[in-house]
Amino acid sequence: MINMGLIGLGKMGGYHLNLYDEIPEIKLTALCDADEGALGLQVIKKNVPGFTNYRNILPLVDAVTIAAPTKLHYEITRACLEAGKHIFVEKPITTDYRQAAELFELAEKKHLTIQIGYVERFNGVTRELKNIVSNPTLIEARRVGPFNPNFKNDSIIMDIMIHDIDIALSVSGRQVAAIQAMGAPVHTKLADYASVNIYFGNSSMAHIVAGRINHVKERFINITQDDTLIMLDYLKQNIDIIRKGQLQDFSERDEIKYKNNPLKNEIEHFVSCVEGKSARIVSIEHDLHTMEVALEVDSLLKSNTYGYKEF
Ligand SMILES: NC(=O)c1ccc[n+]([C@@H]2O[C@H](COP(=O)([O-])OP(=O)(O)OC[C@H]3O[C@@H](n4cnc5c(N)ncnc54)[C@H](O)[C@@H]3O)[C@@H](O)[C@H]2O)c1
Repeated sequence: MINMGLIGLGKMGGYHLNLYDEIPEIKLTALCDADEGALGLQVIKKNVPGFTNYRNILPLVDAVTIAAPTKLHYEITRACLEAGKHIFVEKPITTDYRQAAELFELAEKKHLTIQIGYVERFNGVTRELKNIVSNPTLIEARRVGPFNPNFKNDSIIMDIMIHDIDIALSVSGRQVAAIQAMGAPVHTKLADYASVNIYFGNSSMAHIVAGRINHVKERFINITQDDTLIMLDYLKQNIDIIRKGQLQDFSERDEIKYKNNPLKNEIEHFVSCVEGKSARIVSIEHDLHTMEVALEVDSLLKSNTYGYKEF
């Protein structure tokens, strides 16, 4: 049984909280939010101690989930690691490579689990990719949706495209040889829409689009390899495969059960790592590489004429 604390009770924190009751290994022992209203509501509902200062939950927990705003992740993660707590931190862990490397190093030194909330990795359809992708030539990803003013100061690369960069790097398995990026500000002074090419060498590349100007939420990845096109819809949790021009409805195969709750899978994996029953599904080097590529894309957009402008 893990004594779990949750820091940040906004939208994402709420999703985590709703799932704890379904995971028997988790005992929620403390809550934290800087906003007394948000905190009070959940403290009454869950009947656990609540604090507006995250430091006060530390004596009550073995592990914490950090779902506070991104700009606070570094400070809170560091303090919790120093206090010997296992960490589940929502993505992005920070927006600074050196800070991320420092946090991983600290976790390793203290033999603590640190997991970043790359929820799409835990989508059943994404997990299935390792069984069907081999030597991809073209990876095309699209992650778009309507504007949310809560994130107007956050980069869409670090906020949403980072999921697709992470998956493209895993699926490709190759080193990045070159990156191109272009974006346009629409609702904010940052790029609200971006189109990115990652070249892996050997005639293989990823083309990734992310946007927060779109009227409909879409999350797709199409992968072209040899005689096969793999079309994955993260939202419908569906995979279609076209092999030699013939559609094969892969997701209807009885033995494949990937319509599940990715966040629940992700929390269960965290618990299993904390209990020493599982190892990280990707290496720390991969996590740092994802961050490095995302930050490089972000900096290209910043320097681009059509990229984002400084406030
Ligand atoms: N994994 C995903 O797909 C995904 C999706 C959405 C958001 N996120 C990430 O989750 C994090 C939170 O996003 P959100 O949409 O829930 O934001 P939100 O604004 O809805 O919630 C943030 C909460 O943190 C609280 N907070 C602020 N300062 C605090 C402090 N010092 N101590 C404790 N609590 C504090 C706020 O009062 C608020 O309740 C962000 O880092 C975001 O990038 C991840």
